[in-house]
Amino acid sequence: MATSKQLRLLTDNAIALDVRQGLTASPKYLPSKLFYDEAGSQLFEQITELPEYYLSRTERSILEQYAGEILANAGPSLTLVELGAGTAAKTCILIEELLLRQSRVLFYPIDVSPSALEQAVRQLGRQFPCLRVNPIVGDYTGGVPALSRITGRKLVLYIGSSIGNFEPPQAIRLLRRIRQTLRSGDALLLGADFAKSPKILVPAYDDAQGVTAAFNKNILARLNRELEADFDVDAFRHIALWNRRGSRMEIYLESMTAQTAFLPALDLDVAFERGERMHTENSYKYTDAMIESILRESGFTLEQTWCDRKRWFGLHLARV
Ligand code: TRP
Repeated sequence: MATSKQLRLLTDNAIALDVRQGLTASPKYLPSKLFYDEAGSQLFEQITELPEYYLSRTERSILEQYAGEILANAGPSLTLVELGAGTAAKTCILIEELLLRQSRVLFYPIDVSPSALEQAVRQLGRQFPCLRVNPIVGDYTGGVPALSRITGRKLVLYIGSSIGNFEPPQAIRLLRRIRQTLRSGDALLLGADFAKSPKILVPAYDDAQGVTAAFNKNILARLNRELEADFDVDAFRHIALWNRRGSRMEIYLESMTAQTAFLPALDLDVAFERGERMHTENSYKYTDAMIESILRESGFTLEQTWCDRKRWFGLHLARV
């Protein structure tokens, strides 16, 4: 019989079922959505500032250089929508440029985090008094039906390379659902990291200061905090591998010893062998051909790609 405390943990905890499923699977895995609690989101902010993690900085520089061209190509009289907007930190580059072209701009940031959206609304309101912001709190991965009620030409932003964290079939399914809420002439701006040498990729996911390792291990620390588990966090190590055939970075937590963890909230013992790896994330790295293909298969036409001089990161404009 479970104690009443165990029952409370079991019924209250939204992550419990997913964690049980991952830890009882063979091989074991942990769902990547566990990364972004408060501590994890802070660590991710630190990752974006690491010298090895070129992604955020490179995407920002492409936006800074080409915002005008991107908007000119997207078309006149745009309404902006952003999937997974967060605090919309990079979006202000496009908004500033758009306000030079049209007097009225409407922006619909969509995110699961109400606090991130509140911050976006506050910051953008201060910076752009003429901008109208309509935040939508919710998960965009199943599509956003509310988008079909927006009139006028839309430019949907899906920047930040989150597309790379989906398996390609899931990425196509997501883009298809977004496509279904758009009309002819609407456009999508998709940010994606290019496939490149593992000499560049591996350090981006395994930095010298160990911030990425701390970010990955925070999942275990979170299970200790939220499910009262007893993972010996220091007995696991962070692994980042380039899988060339799959065109993806694979992230794991590896048990450095034979050990057992107990999760009272799940009434579950989990035994690890020495060297056993638990998968936590994939980050797909796209070639031009892969981008062209996922867009075509989801009903978009790739019109133009902007990238940095080294072709490390790309922003792709696609049309419905
Ligand atoms: N989604 C980001 C990416 O794939 C997040 C990220 C950066 C990440 N470093 C990580 C996810 C390490 C897991 C482990 O680039």
